[in-house]
Amino acid sequence: MVSLRFLLCFLFVSSAYATIVSHDGRAITIDGHRRVLLSGSIHYPRSTPEMWPDLIKKGKEGGLDAIETYVFWNAHEPTRRQYDFSGKLDLIRFLKTIQDEGLYGVLRIGPYACAEWNYGGFPVWLHNMPGMVFRTTNKSFMDEMQNFTTMIVDMVKKEKLFASQGGPIILAQIENEYGNVMGPYGESGKAYIKWCANMAQSLDVGVPWIMCQQNDAPQPMLNTCNGFYCDNFVPNNPNTPKMWTENWTGWFKQWGGKNPHRTTEDVAFSVARFFQRGGTFNNYYMYHGGTNFDRTAGGPYITTSYDYDAPLDEYGNLNQPKYGHLKQLHDVLHSMERTLTYGNISTIDFGNSASATIYKTEEGSSCFFGNGNENSDAKISFQGESYVVPAWSVTILPDCKNEAYNTAKITTQTSMMVKKPNEAEDTPSTLKWSWRPENVDNFILKGKGDSTQTQLFDQKVVTNDQSDYLWYMTTVKFKKRDLFLGKSMSLRVNSTAHALHAFVNGKHIGNQHAENGKFNYVFEKDVKFKSGRNVIALLSITVGLANYGAFFESKPAGITGPIFITGINGDETIVKDLSAHKWSYKTGLNGFENQFFRTESMSKWSVESVPFNRSMTWYKATFKAPLGNDPVVVDLMGLGKGAYHAEKCLTNCGEPTQRWYHVPRSFLNGEGDNTLVLFEEMGGNPSLVSFQTTRVGSVCANVYENKIIELSCDRKPISAIKFASFGNPYGNCGSFEKGTCESSNNTVDILTQECVGKEKCSIDVSTKKFGAPDCSGAARKLAVEVIC
Ligand code: GAL
Repeated sequence: MVSLRFLLCFLFVSSAYATIVSHDGRAITIDGHRRVLLSGSIHYPRSTPEMWPDLIKKGKEGGLDAIETYVFWNAHEPTRRQYDFSGKLDLIRFLKTIQDEGLYGVLRIGPYACAEWNYGGFPVWLHNMPGMVFRTTNKSFMDEMQNFTTMIVDMVKKEKLFASQGGPIILAQIENEYGNVMGPYGESGKAYIKWCANMAQSLDVGVPWIMCQQNDAPQPMLNTCNGFYCDNFVPNNPNTPKMWTENWTGWFKQWGGKNPHRTTEDVAFSVARFFQRGGTFNNYYMYHGGTNFDRTAGGPYITTSYDYDAPLDEYGNLNQPKYGHLKQLHDVLHSMERTLTYGNISTIDFGNSASATIYKTEEGSSCFFGNGNENSDAKISFQGESYVVPAWSVTILPDCKNEAYNTAKITTQTSMMVKKPNEAEDTPSTLKWSWRPENVDNFILKGKGDSTQTQLFDQKVVTNDQSDYLWYMTTVKFKKRDLFLGKSMSLRVNSTAHALHAFVNGKHIGNQHAENGKFNYVFEKDVKFKSGRNVIALLSITVGLANYGAFFESKPAGITGPIFITGINGDETIVKDLSAHKWSYKTGLNGFENQFFRTESMSKWSVESVPFNRSMTWYKATFKAPLGNDPVVVDLMGLGKGAYHAEKCLTNCGEPTQRWYHVPRSFLNGEGDNTLVLFEEMGGNPSLVSFQTTRVGSVCANVYENKIIELSCDRKPISAIKFASFGNPYGNCGSFEKGTCESSNNTVDILTQECVGKEKCSIDVSTKKFGAPDCSGAARKLAVEVIC
């Protein structure tokens, strides 16, 4: 008896997690159960350890089974064989947080990530090793990749985090979308993929390995799909379940680019359609995008915000209705797990892109009615009943009779986020600034750096990615009677610097940045050189290293030349090539080297005549953390870099690409003073900079009768009903209008009573509650806007 109790107890403990993960053409099986798996990407370094429990919990409440993350090699091994797993990089802590929440994990080790992450997650020192070529049968590369991958696997094994050890991780990934870029690598590419498969397999993790977008994935690697739609995807191996590793919930943003947006209805449609057509694992990329802190943004030109229009916004707030509408979908799909993974499948084609899919087991059936026509609704008659499936939507009927969900019919509230000024005590609305210049005299007047070479180098080679800034400096001597002098002269720089500032003899002669997509350009300016010694100083700036494409590691960055001085003498052009001159190099900014951002370095900051529109300037201010728990942002309105000045402006004209920057609460002193230090490269006005908090400002819903709608101000009380009408109201959140029919009951009063003062309320949208306005037979709707 005692031993049985012991055994039961043991079984109970170990059943919390899987031990065996297997798969067949139909589904992933975890400890004997075929699963419908919903997963979401959350990248640990794009938030803080303090945020992880809340983000993961929201994932679970949103109906996810698993959390997926890449592993970021360059962050963990910034210098060869020196590792960092601290703070935001504490991978094991992140995985354990997933475990604590009772979710599964998907570990995409790569170690190539892409992910709009600097250099796709590769360390720049790797590029600087002799004879190095990435992602092919290059011995040095394979050795380093194997070294890092093995180290990660060993760390995870040591903590018993693979499902085979009773841990949460059910899948691991090697490489990433190599199939998309494989062509240019030829036969070596094919051999490399085989090597990746063997190497991964030899690590014996006890769970399946995936290789996304790899339609020649060698067995037992599982080939999976990435994209906006994957319902047509067929894996190369018939034993691979239909799996979707990246369902893009939105997109990333680039400097100068528009705000990306993918509608909630379309994300839901893509998921429902995928499961209609035999899918079994769907991962949202991203579920929480977060923030590209430090210099982690890839590129070129990926913004600091990686919001992605994901179900959780950059700060971790619910992005409604996306979050809630998908949660309902997950619940319905989970309720059908058995029929979906065991049922016999039959389909009916109704023509005009309308179809039904029936999953049937002995116990019952589940149905999907799909309408892939973008313009017209489908009228379907099925087993004696008729159904309308709106254009571009899928209806799900877990019992093949009653519609439980339609991807186009949103019954989740829309939340409108607002920014509030910092309400901390003793904090004036405007910050008090002090300033100091970046000391550039040594460079622009003397041309003096740390090392010299008679060659122009790619920026990565010199900086090893220790900074975005690199000075290229040289001196040119002209004799008094030099043919050049006095002629119309110019400096011509063939550049691949993302941004470039040029100085001659201490004078700023101009700057230029590469247009997105055209990273080779010529900077040319008329210059007056003098007899004797002239100093040319070029400051080259990278804005995120490339992260995608075949051989992306060798895309040039910096000033790769050639560089000329030209002089025109009558009809004769004289050209002087400076490319093989003695070039002096200096990595980084003086202010960084001298840690201007440290609070102790108080001296030399001046509060007098704080300059505006001065380039290369440091600004400093102290402030109190905003009260409360709402996420904090700093509004960098008025500052220069990132402002959109292009003449051909189409959208956001005159607006900065990114205005608000997330400052996680854990970065701040809750009680005492905090210090903000800014470096203004182009010239700007810091007087508009301020700290704010972000929260739900108002909430709207617009739903047909006979539905229940929940209104919530996200842990804040509802303060007022701004608009409410039951009948045929129209318009959008913030601009609803009454229609031609409306209930005579006072809808605002009813809602005020049920909702105001509460954090959430659930409304039964029915004639019983609101009366029965005569809308000439058309379905009635409730439109409501609530102030939080
Ligand atoms: C995919 C890649 C991801 C990410 C995504 C775009 O091709 O695998 O890492 O870069 O594109 O956000």
